[in-house]
Formats: sequence, structure tokens, C-alpha cells
Amino acid sequence: MNIAQWIVYAKQYLTENLTNDPYLNAKTDSYLLLQFVTGYSKLQLMAFNDRELSKENCEKLTALLERRAKGEPMAYILGETEFWSLNLKVSPDTLIPRPDTEMLVEHALNVAKEKIQQKGKVSILDLGTGTGAIALAIADELKKCGTKYRILGVDLVAGAVALARQNAEQNDLLDVEFQQSSWFQNITEHFDIIVSNPPYIDPQDPHLQQGDVRFEPLSALIAEDQGYADLQKIIAKAPQFLQPQGWLLLEHGWQQGKKVRSFLTENLWHSVQTVKDYGGNERVTLARLK
Ligand SMILES: C[S@@+](CC[C@H](N)C(=O)[O-])C[C@H]1O[C@@H](n2cnc3c(N)ncnc32)[C@H](O)[C@@H]1O
Repeated sequence: MNIAQWIVYAKQYLTENLTNDPYLNAKTDSYLLLQFVTGYSKLQLMAFNDRELSKENCEKLTALLERRAKGEPMAYILGETEFWSLNLKVSPDTLIPRPDTEMLVEHALNVAKEKIQQKGKVSILDLGTGTGAIALAIADELKKCGTKYRILGVDLVAGAVALARQNAEQNDLLDVEFQQSSWFQNITEHFDIIVSNPPYIDPQDPHLQQGDVRFEPLSALIAEDQGYADLQKIIAKAPQFLQPQGWLLLEHGWQQGKKVRSFLTENLWHSVQTVKDYGGNERVTLARLK
């Protein structure tokens, strides 16, 4: 089979098998799998599409196509994804970073600007760092501006901490530190800003049986109390680990904004606001400690 024939075959196979995936782009996925296996760029694949695929590559492609046809996300198959301007390794130890989380990065950078103007530096804690996506995206921007920073990312899962360290190395951001901790358990410092995209899905949510999340670990997805348990824990403890006038920024479910705002009580917090994601849904709530 040559490259052109395989593209036609793979596109059709994915379209027939992933009828429930509204975001499927069968042609893009087919090219990405070919690039991964052959090492050719997309342009090379297009230019030399009459080239025969070796038996070995055909076997590899069949195995990967089968995984994709069962719904496994491309990021897990390829072992990497893009987030912000970074290329990140991913693994089944944690969530695949989502574009909506870039909203959290954007607002964290906004509040960081104010701290930098005041003190010439900023310290940030990322709780439930996973791949390190949020911590590393913020660090990358601050580094480009020549800003001094202290950024620490923590995660409960040892595999996620190791992955975040690899991503720091891959993106030349070795001054970002990662350590294992259950939320604030091993934290001994105060920070200007705490950011988190914690698990916030209700364990009963039927969406857990659909799409990409079926392949992601429950430790990254679900929280007790209809998804609020970890958000609530973080809000309750954060004042002990924030500098006065420090900021807390939390990603949450699109219908959780109102309740999250209610956890940020007036006696401790002010400037409470929720911002919407690219789809127009409430996604990130931020508040400043008194
Ligand atoms: C929704 S994922 C977010 C990952 C990453 N920050 C991102 O935005 O792509 C939640 C992360 O929280 C971690 N986590 C879950 N429970 C935790 C706990 N008790 N302490 C620290 N991290 C925890 C999970 O392992 C997972 O990596």
C-alpha cells in the first residue's frame, strides 16, 4: 500500500468507527499517524504520496489506527500535545491539557504583572500540575520578559510529577520546580499567586463514559460532593499559603461558577470574579485575599 492509499483507507476507517465524535478530523489524524511512524513531514508525505509503505510501517500504522478507532485521544497515541506555545509530553498518569485552561494562564499572567510591578518578581504555586502545563506556560512567558520568578508545581501522582519535570527539561524551563504533594500537604512557603485546575467532575456525570475522558485517569477528573470537594479544600486552605493580597485562580466546570464564588467568603476574599472560556462558558474564578 502506498501513502496516498493509506490516507484514503485510514480516513474512511476512522470516520466509520468514530461516528459519535463531533470533533473528529479523520484526515488530520491519519496524517499525524503517518508522520509519527514514518518520520516524514506532512509536506513530504504529500509530495511523495506514491511511495510504498514498508511492511513494518504498515503493521505499526494498523496498530495505532486501531487504538484511534477505539476513541483513544491522539495525544496519548503520539505521547505529546501542544499547550500555549509549548510542546508537552503526555501520559495516562494525568489529564491531556485542554485549550480552555489557557484562560487560566492568561489571567494568572495578568495578576502576575501587578505583582511584578510592585516587587520586581513573583512567586506562583500550581496545585495539581499534571503535565506541568500551567506552571510551564506561565514560566515561559515570564522568562521571555526577563522576569524573576519562583514557580512550584505539585501533584499527588508521582508519574505526573516525573512527567512535569521531563516537560520542564524539554522546554528549557529547568528553574520551575515540581514535587509530590497532596494539595498543600508538603508546602512550607507563601506565594503571591496560587493557580489550580483540580479534578471537578461529579463521579456520577455520564460524560465520563464518553470521548477522551474515558482514557484519562479518574484521579485527574473526579471529585466528591458533585465535583466540588477539591475546589472547596483548596479554597479553604489557600489563605494559609498566600501572601496578603495574594491571588487564587481556579478552573472549574462551566456550571460551577456560582457555587465556587459562594465558597470565596467576603470576610477573607475580595475582587471575586468569574471569567468565561473561548466557548462563552464560566470557566475560571479568581479572587484576592484580604
Ligand atoms: C484536571 S487535572 C489538571 C492537570 C493540569 N494542571 C492541566 O491543567 O492540564 C488535575 C490534576 O490534579 C491532580 N490531583 C488530584 N488530586 C490531587 C491532590 N490531592 N493533590 C495534588 N494533586 C492532585 C491529578 O493527579 C491531576 O494531575
